[in-house]
Amino acid sequence: MKAGLLSKGGNFMDELSQSAKAEFVHHVFSNIAGKYDTMNSVLSFYQHKVWRDVAMAKMAVRRGNRCLDVATGTGDWAIALADEVGDTGRVVGLDFCEEMLDVARPKVAAAGIGAYTKLMSGNAMELPFADDEFDVVTIGFALRNVPDVQVVLNEMTRVAKPGGMVVSLELSKPTWEPFRSLYYFYFYRILPKIGKLVVGDAEPYEWLPRSLITFPDRFKLAEMFQKAGLERVAHYPLTGGICALHMGYKPMVSGGDQ
Ligand SMILES: C[S@@+](CC[C@H](N)C(=O)[O-])C[C@H]1O[C@@H](n2cnc3c(N)ncnc32)[C@H](O)[C@@H]1O
Repeated sequence: MKAGLLSKGGNFMDELSQSAKAEFVHHVFSNIAGKYDTMNSVLSFYQHKVWRDVAMAKMAVRRGNRCLDVATGTGDWAIALADEVGDTGRVVGLDFCEEMLDVARPKVAAAGIGAYTKLMSGNAMELPFADDEFDVVTIGFALRNVPDVQVVLNEMTRVAKPGGMVVSLELSKPTWEPFRSLYYFYFYRILPKIGKLVVGDAEPYEWLPRSLITFPDRFKLAEMFQKAGLERVAHYPLTGGICALHMGYKPMVSGGDQ
């Protein structure tokens, strides 16, 4: 099922069962784990670092906070969170791909945050935590990859404390022409070729643009945050709408339609 799946073309991925999509995504990230950080910087022209900095500035995470980074991958957002919470806080980075976590582990050790930063295996669709555990729950560039975006947002909301924050950074759909057409030319035509050239395998970087096609736009994703029971939902386009930051807060008194 895994290799060559995208060559079937069309919206084949949309027709896959949830487990088949998860299996395919797992296969993609285990294959590119070693090159993921480099490719991220090259393909986004280092913008992903800017986007994370904007997110951290808007979130204003506090010392001592308990944070969960869902689908942490190679750990960049978990490390940024750990820098803010300090040794009186706690950060958990969760991912279902061990190969990605293997890249994150030495980075966490080198940052000297290992005592209060835990990397663990787990599924975003079924978070292995009790209700109301975290002050901050983040997900970066991974909602496009999960089998059901609403289920993951519901789960992130469930494990956030009342008053806690749920945050997503994700690729999005620019609306302003001619920027939109120029960007889509790069994203759908050029990026997969660069990906194939550097990684030596076409599939991962054919999947990246395809994963955006059916992903909700910025406004629809904000509605899904609200549907998860979050309030004061705010969303910000970044770099002309290539990326979007979404933030929402779990009500102090529960009562959303989760
Ligand atoms: C594009 S990477 C993003 C990694 C990291 N968050 C970042 O900002 O660079 C997507 C990550 O989502 C993870 N992922 C996808 N679906 C998942 C799921 N259902 N449960 C846990 N992790 C998942 C993949 O293993 C991969 O590490």
